[in-house]
Amino acid sequence: MSQYQTLETSIMAEILASADEAAIEAVRVAALGKKGSVSELLKGLGKMSAEERQEAGPAINGLKARIADAIAARKSQLRDAAITERLARETVDVSLPVRSSPAERGRIHPISQIVDEITAIFADMGFAIAEGPDIETDHYNFTALNFPDGHPAREMHDTFFLQPDESGERKVLRTHTSPVQIRTMEAESPPIRIVIPGKTYRQDSDATHSPMFHQVEGLVIDKTATVGHLRWVLEEFCKSFFEVDSVTMRFRPSFFPFTEPSFEVDIQCDRSSGPVVKFGEGSDWMEILGCGMMHPNVLRAGGLDPDEYQGFAWGMGLDRIAMLKYGMPDLRDFFNADVRWTSHYGFRPLDMPTLFGGLSA
Ligand code: DAH
Repeated sequence: MSQYQTLETSIMAEILASADEAAIEAVRVAALGKKGSVSELLKGLGKMSAEERQEAGPAINGLKARIADAIAARKSQLRDAAITERLARETVDVSLPVRSSPAERGRIHPISQIVDEITAIFADMGFAIAEGPDIETDHYNFTALNFPDGHPAREMHDTFFLQPDESGERKVLRTHTSPVQIRTMEAESPPIRIVIPGKTYRQDSDATHSPMFHQVEGLVIDKTATVGHLRWVLEEFCKSFFEVDSVTMRFRPSFFPFTEPSFEVDIQCDRSSGPVVKFGEGSDWMEILGCGMMHPNVLRAGGLDPDEYQGFAWGMGLDRIAMLKYGMPDLRDFFNADVRWTSHYGFRPLDMPTLFGGLSA
């Protein structure tokens, strides 16, 4: 047997013996790579005499071609085998019961749920959502909202004041979402229709008050906004939110520095059957929000001319409403991060509140 045949037999045996794509690649490099055994033979041709080369040339080139073919064939065979094996291994047993995913096990906190419900309702009426910072300046939280310096209403809010900064300015944790009214007027021009969900802070803590709580503010500004529109918007909102066909509302005169006239709104309800209050029926009243027509000074503070524009606004505490809608007895549980509580009162994350699909169903 010639030296070429011996080499060919041994490489062919290695090709057949290689069991995976990495192994066949190693054989290819050892034979046909730069320093491979066959490549070395080819390099040797240069040193041969013309006659020797005439014989060895075709022999080596033939050897190289057969080996290259054999390697390619084995490679594709191995690749097919790997795919077939993977297909067999990765079959899915469709008859197995579905395992619930982590997304299904987690729960949406009732406050997040309420915010999603409220924004779904107002988005349907054409409102946009706006947000503002939790740490506010005295200007946005009070002055621009027509709270005069030293006015008792500033004290009414039980404000958390921060330490004064280098310039002596004392920032506050916002006591309500109303400062975002001013920020919005500064950033956009009318017509404005926005709702502002967010965290708010006051020094207060018992079964129905938490020092950090949540509000949703609403704001409409254009040239013709009236109390009639305000009533309609709030009535439509309450029907959707409490998921009833009709609600009876009562507008009581009230006072807020930033609205004139100002109202507090009660809705009719039935509290006779425990912690879950029934809305749209019964003989009790429950206060749910404050509202009014924007005070001219507030429009001015936002850079608008009160002779040209008018607006209405409302503000609603979310935590108590959530307690009443979903029958939770103690507000403090909302912020205890107890998984047993969230899995009982929380909402399924894939059930997004929509008006057509049901808000809290
Ligand atoms: N900011 C008020 C509060 O926290 C609530 C409020 C009342 C907001 C009347 C308004 C409004 O926008 O018009 O007590």
